[in-house]
Amino acid sequence: KDPRIHGIKTKIRVVPNFPKPGIMFQDITTLLLDPKAFKDTIDLFVERYKDKNISVVAGIEARGFIFGPPIALAIGAKFVPLRKPKKLPGKVISQEYILEYGRDCLEMHVGAVEAGERCLVVDDLIATGGTLGAAMDLLECVGAEVVECACVIELPELKGRQRLNGKPLYVLVEYY
Ligand code: PRP
Ligand code: MG
Repeated sequence: KDPRIHGIKTKIRVVPNFPKPGIMFQDITTLLLDPKAFKDTIDLFVERYKDKNISVVAGIEARGFIFGPPIALAIGAKFVPLRKPKKLPGKVISQEYILEYGRDCLEMHVGAVEAGERCLVVDDLIATGGTLGAAMDLLECVGAEVVECACVIELPELKGRQRLNGKPLYVLVEYY
């Protein structure tokens, strides 16, 4: 395991009972306050993906918008935002997904990604996997290829990987 990962883990603040009782919230804002740990985070992803012929980094609103763009710039890929409903002005495709409480939806501009493009999906965290699953569905719907999903944090006990239909997932930190 890369020695930088321990430093990254120590900068993620865990906030008990936020936003609801029983939830251990993984707060990445404290990671962002540490330029070395934030850079190490981006560098680890860039080192992994720079020679993989990826032309699209798709970032999931909201926290995938923090980690996705610096990765996209460094590997020479375009950045495509996958947004919550009714935020994008152009023609969109939508994908609903199930959350712990209720449903949500992600949208992507039609034409942002072309058939056959090789995509990396980026978010801060995978819990149940519903969000990443919806993101992959959007990209595959337009004929793109999802090469891998990348997150800073995984909550393995929620078994989100099982919802990714065998698609590879790369994470830096596991939280039990
Ligand atoms: C959180 C987190 C992931 C998602 C993971 O986002 O940032 O995107 O939940 O959960 P899942 O694996 O169970 O789908 P949230 O929906 O709270 O919104 P935000 O990023 O806009 O704050
Ligand atoms: Mg999110």
